[in-house]
Amino acid sequence: MRILVCGGAGYIGSHTCAVLAARGHDLLVADNFVNSSPRALERLRRLTGAPICFQLTDLRVRAEVDALFEGQRFDAVVHFAALKAVGESCERPLDYFDNNISGTIHLLQAMQAAGVERLVFSSSATVYGDPDSVPVREDAALRITNPYGRTKLVMEQLIGDLCASDPSFHAANLRYFNPVGAHPSGLIGEDPGGEPNNLMPYVSQVAVGRRERLRIFGGDWPTVDGTGVRDYIHVMDLARAHADAIDYLVREGRGLTVNLGTGRGVSVLELVRAFAKASGREIPYEVVARRAGDVAEVYADPSLAHELLGWRAELGVDAMCRDAWRWQSMNPDGYGRVGIEQAGISVDPSLAVAG
Ligand SMILES: NC(=O)c1ccc[n+]([C@@H]2O[C@H](COP(=O)([O-])OP(=O)(O)OC[C@H]3O[C@@H](n4cnc5c(N)ncnc54)[C@H](O)[C@@H]3O)[C@@H](O)[C@H]2O)c1
Repeated sequence: MRILVCGGAGYIGSHTCAVLAARGHDLLVADNFVNSSPRALERLRRLTGAPICFQLTDLRVRAEVDALFEGQRFDAVVHFAALKAVGESCERPLDYFDNNISGTIHLLQAMQAAGVERLVFSSSATVYGDPDSVPVREDAALRITNPYGRTKLVMEQLIGDLCASDPSFHAANLRYFNPVGAHPSGLIGEDPGGEPNNLMPYVSQVAVGRRERLRIFGGDWPTVDGTGVRDYIHVMDLARAHADAIDYLVREGRGLTVNLGTGRGVSVLELVRAFAKASGREIPYEVVARRAGDVAEVYADPSLAHELLGWRAELGVDAMCRDAWRWQSMNPDGYGRVGIEQAGISVDPSLAVAG
């Protein structure tokens, strides 16, 4: 199939491109590199040997989104392109509404105009906020605790309204829990600019010597060892679910909303210990006060994804830490900050070009 991947240069997008290319799909990546590096595409091409096409596109600009569809026929669109930092979304909510919600509206408008009827959308467990009970099922109450979460919920609702208005439009809302790890090659991985917001990249940067020590927010949560518990999922398992979701949309001709997690909660200290073992490095840490808005324990009930997609997470915490460490130790500074030209990416804003 020919698939448009918006935000495909980013962390989850690049891993999903690797899986889609390995399944023989033909890809066009659209990204503006607001939170990613052109080098991810260069690595992806090396990894897959596939001529992954790229078009420099800002989803906030309707004309640029329309240009993606000119003279092209896509079987499906996978939409990763969003800003995703919770803290930043509280400081700059309008930027988040503009980027995430306007960008999605432009994409939906362009898809409808071009008659493209299958969408896989990156949603998040953040739509559940602080759930009443765990494991969390898809029918749990939806509670928003920050502007980023609001954008995810609103986007799910916009997509739902479009599906209701047009019975031929089908969408897969994939609610990710906590994606971590990297491609086993060590060629692509998570490369947060500035201070990482998430635990695994922080731990990796401590292990590689870029940061002095980890701060653990709260040691007095009502959990197994007092630290927060989350459902970490290997990014390769997550990537595979996108390919399975596209197959589902084609096969079933209807949409779905599913949790993507392992169904197993892991505490911060358990993850830190597993990472120390995988890397052979000590991870100095200190336990500090809880962070406002954090919750004790969140993990998924992923059984619906298994039932509908036949998908199940296969990789455990040891593999997540091993692969995250391989990526970090092979690329201590991530991709490095490079421009499109330096990364060898040929770009013509009006044309999709193979590398
Ligand atoms: N990583 C997580 O923990 C997590 C958890 C749940 C959901 N999600 C969602 O999954 C998606 C992918 O997350 P990720 O971790 O890969 O993030 P990421 O920042 O690495 O990737 C997002 C990509 O989208 C691009 N992008 C953003 N705005 C754009 C715009 N206006 N036009 C064109 N490109 C744009 C960025 O440059 C980046 O390459 C996001 O929608 C995110 O909200 C992520």
